[in-house]
Amino acid sequence: MNTPSAAETAHYTASTPRSRKLQAHAERYLPGGSSRGTAHWTPYPFFAERGEGHYVFDVDGNRYLDFMLNATSLIHGHAHPDVTRAIQEQAAKGVAFSAPTEVQARLAEMLCERVPSVELARFTSSGTEATMNAIRAARAFTGRPKIAKIEGGYHGSHDFASVSVTTPADSLDPAGPAPAAEFPGLPQGVLDNVVVLPFNDLEACERVIRRRADDLACVIMEPVVSSFGYLPAEPGFLRGIRGLTRELGVLLIFDEVQSLRTAPGGAQERLGVAPDLTAMGKIIGGGLPVGAFGGRRDLMEQFDPQREDAIPHSGTFNANPLTMAAGDAALRRLTPDAYERLDRLGGQARAKLQAVLDELEVKAVVTGIASLFAIHFGIDEVTDYRSKLQADAAMTSAVFIGLLNEGVLLQQSCAGSLSTITSESDIDTLAAAVRRVVQRTAST
Ligand SMILES: Cc1ncc(COP(=O)(O)O)c(C=O)c1O
Repeated sequence: MNTPSAAETAHYTASTPRSRKLQAHAERYLPGGSSRGTAHWTPYPFFAERGEGHYVFDVDGNRYLDFMLNATSLIHGHAHPDVTRAIQEQAAKGVAFSAPTEVQARLAEMLCERVPSVELARFTSSGTEATMNAIRAARAFTGRPKIAKIEGGYHGSHDFASVSVTTPADSLDPAGPAPAAEFPGLPQGVLDNVVVLPFNDLEACERVIRRRADDLACVIMEPVVSSFGYLPAEPGFLRGIRGLTRELGVLLIFDEVQSLRTAPGGAQERLGVAPDLTAMGKIIGGGLPVGAFGGRRDLMEQFDPQREDAIPHSGTFNANPLTMAAGDAALRRLTPDAYERLDRLGGQARAKLQAVLDELEVKAVVTGIASLFAIHFGIDEVTDYRSKLQADAAMTSAVFIGLLNEGVLLQQSCAGSLSTITSESDIDTLAAAVRRVVQRTAST
């Protein structure tokens, strides 16, 4: 029951013979056949051939209605003509210079205008580098070594973010969040300098933060936690953490690598709480590799290379002009009307999915905000990492594979996002596919 059924897996493998062959070839040269954890699933991933609008096509000619959208980054879908044109025009002029470009400043200006807490920004090539540098800024400014993060929060793949992200249920400390390494060999020194907090529990967070304040450089968190199904923090929780960190001289970093797409000014605008520093990524690069971090002028000025004591920040591909041009074209299309439409359709998607699940009398809850949604099977509430862990993982992967057979691509966690080209009929297609797959899965 609820594992990808033999029939579902057989259907998938029968429809993807060329992908299967390419996977076998790739495994000879790449561990697992790829370079990205999220791009692998059992029995093997399809190999992408091209993307067009809301669809991605695999090498066997199968077409998938794409709500994965490269982990929410393709907010205008695949190969949007405006973004493609910007990339082509820039490519013809050169793809990289070790000199600044006008378009870099234009994109930074747009970020600063849209996100008022961002007075100055710097670009990186990934969200991982964005959170890493925001943390570095906080440490340098406060002279304190420790950081605090939420249990189950994902902030990229650098060492200090690799603590208590996917801790298995049987390794959790029943007394409350405690630092746990994501992989063997993570130095004890890293674990000793990360404090782990429970989400949405202000009282518990306050006790820990007050106790550690003298050593604590920052609290880093997503205002809308992606790994909990795009779960927004309780407004009182965010306000409480903001007040507390300000009182104690601890800096507050919001990781908006995903949640920036919830409003022109990100989730901080939507939820009404401004951090000291913000990490960004995904949509701001128009689909190309990107990250950015920004915030209070006095914190960001630490990176000014004109200062003798500047924090070094280099990167061969930082602010590369292709990404800047694509990001500029993508953000320009994100008008207030576009956000309003994404919000409306996101609400519809969540409501329709929940209605299907309720009608089928399947225990499941749909969470999310704005253009983001997630289905959690086997539970009817998510409040934090520990409640999310109670979800039915086998049903989740069964539905993921079943949806591929229906020509619909979600994240493997059965979460997804909409793009500015998503239509009401795309949402109906999604809901109808979920209905068929859940009916099939529940009856095996
Ligand atoms: C919330 C959050 N922070 C940071 C990152 C890391 O970004 P990147 O994959 O660009 O390194 C991600 C990526 O999924 C993310 O979702």
